Amino acid sequence: MAPDTARPLRLEALAYGGDYNPDQWSEDVWDEDIRLMLEAGVNLVSLPIFSWPQLEPEPGVFDWSWLDRVLAKLWDAGIRIDLATATATPPSWLLRAHPEMMPMDADGHRLEFGSRQTYCPSSPVWRENVARMTRAMAERYGDHPGVVLWHISNEYGDHTSRCWCPESARHFRRWLRDRYGDLDGLNEAWGVNVWGQRYTSWDHIETPRRAPGPINPTKLLDFERFSSDALLELFQLEVDVLREITPEIPVTTNFMSMFRDLDYWRFADAEDIVTDDAYPDPADPISHVGAALNYGLMRALKGGQPWLLLESSASATSWRDVNVPKAPGKMRVDSLQAVAHGSDAVMFFQWRQAKYGQEKFHSSMLGHRGEASRTYQETKALGQELKRLEAVRGTRVRSRVALVVDWDSWWGSSAIESLPSQRLNWARQARAWHRAMHLLGQPVDAVRATGPFDAYDVVLVPNLYIVDTAQAAALTAFADGGGHVAVGPFSGVVDDTEKVHDGGAPGPLRALLGVEVDEQWPHADEAAERVSYAGAEYENPFWGEWIEPDASTEVRGRYASGELEGRPAVTRRSAGAGSAWYVSAILEDAGLVAVFRDVLGGAGLPARAEANVDFESVTRSSADTDYTFALNHGREPLTVTVPEGALDLVTGATTGATLELGRYGVAVLATPRAAAPPFLTLAP
Ligand code: GAL
Repeated sequence: MAPDTARPLRLEALAYGGDYNPDQWSEDVWDEDIRLMLEAGVNLVSLPIFSWPQLEPEPGVFDWSWLDRVLAKLWDAGIRIDLATATATPPSWLLRAHPEMMPMDADGHRLEFGSRQTYCPSSPVWRENVARMTRAMAERYGDHPGVVLWHISNEYGDHTSRCWCPESARHFRRWLRDRYGDLDGLNEAWGVNVWGQRYTSWDHIETPRRAPGPINPTKLLDFERFSSDALLELFQLEVDVLREITPEIPVTTNFMSMFRDLDYWRFADAEDIVTDDAYPDPADPISHVGAALNYGLMRALKGGQPWLLLESSASATSWRDVNVPKAPGKMRVDSLQAVAHGSDAVMFFQWRQAKYGQEKFHSSMLGHRGEASRTYQETKALGQELKRLEAVRGTRVRSRVALVVDWDSWWGSSAIESLPSQRLNWARQARAWHRAMHLLGQPVDAVRATGPFDAYDVVLVPNLYIVDTAQAAALTAFADGGGHVAVGPFSGVVDDTEKVHDGGAPGPLRALLGVEVDEQWPHADEAAERVSYAGAEYENPFWGEWIEPDASTEVRGRYASGELEGRPAVTRRSAGAGSAWYVSAILEDAGLVAVFRDVLGGAGLPARAEANVDFESVTRSSADTDYTFALNHGREPLTVTVPEGALDLVTGATTGATLELGRYGVAVLATPRAAAPPFLTLAP
């Protein structure tokens, strides 16, 4: 399909490869690397991500020779390069000359050299050196024909996402000035009359270091926003240098899936191509469900444009307490799941398994046993298989359901110490609501709280603690136009300065939902509360609300135990041509599935009759063809009802009425593009 970005990836195939660290090996190994890469179908590698000290061993003295040689070998072999700017690891000489650029924790301790990302994002000396190094890389390699992508820094915020040092405090003050104009504005926004916190000088404002008791919530929220912005500035600084020198090469920085600390909506706006690092835990039998939501975000970040899975693991990671390997076939299904969800790449950390250092136990495409290693055998097979799936490159996922992802509400519901319950937060709610949709068989895109919603029939708002009038207006317009909205608990509570909306929750969503929340009603962990819905009872862990529906609102579910027994829990209102649901309780999966089945039904969307967490199906479409992926994430075989006569790109066979998906089985079914994407179900 035609590329839909101004700076497309110049690679005429699904990308396949991984992080490559040749500077950890002697040069004779490089030739073997390239031979085996070619054998495995590798066409893209990321380097030199952590090599600044090897490239500039002394201030201003560069040694490009080894990188020149590696890039030449890769180019000769036809392997393309995702060239890193190498700014994720400050050299020790820089830190020792400028110890003030070391990050500081909330207790005021500096973090020492000896790992990576040892920098304060706000440090002027760090920024100056980052710009200098990026410029040096771009000037040296910007016209290298093999470079198809700039890999800026690495996983911003992975280790250092917040810094509490004096330089960060100065930067925080500047950021606050920009936001509030003057001290009166800041004092008003932060509600300083509570606990006597009026500021009379900007210099009195510090980062929210550890304090004797709970810290001003608006200050905490602003510090989250500021910290994300501080890293965004650092990113933008590199983007600007690269756009100046190599305006035709796309830029990216690798995201960390659904990562709390950075507002990826804003980061994605700054780059050309979204790339993601995904490490679903093989020890968790439903980690693919979380991965699906992460990928729903990745494709949404640039409006549905294909993204690239830039890192994943061939088998075990090494940073968990227990690093369980991937069983045979698991790496394949995990990789193809990302492709199903819109990735035009399958890449790994890393190509060759390290011999030493922090990541020597992390699996790689080429394991310690070399060619004989199981991961290499599976790597080779996957490389071949991707060639058969080439037709899906550039196509877009079609989802009818979207879920609102909002960092402000995520931070607001998780950074603050004084909340009705620490159990409820945006991420937990989003995961649970998405899981229910997964069980019903509907893939889910992420979407901003302001939309655009026009591609969707159903919009889920699992929690939106902070709501402004623009968001409420967008959701209301969606329902008025025939859309179906479901809103979860503790939504519409405060404005963007953390002030409770007049009249309480759901604030600006009150008219849409037709309910008022009298009181939030979290309950003790051990209280086994229940909610009844459509004739069945479901567990309602840790949260309820005393709600008062208005006359236009139908009560669809009620609290079935505890102090709220008999009171409304789940409501529905016809809103314009659509509907608005309010789910004030938490609800175990089965309860959410029951509610969402009705939401989907009302929207005219299909839902699976039988919930099976292992089964997933997602459709990517070109102008004329639907490519429907059927994935079995489990070990038990599944029989799936499929469109008859479809071409399975995996096997080359034409389908009958049903299809067997073995353990970790995958099929990719090509059918003429239909008005609605094919909806696969388990055979009865
Ligand atoms: C990522 C990181 C890689 C590697 C990998 C291991 O977070 O970007 O450099 O450390 O994890 O899983």
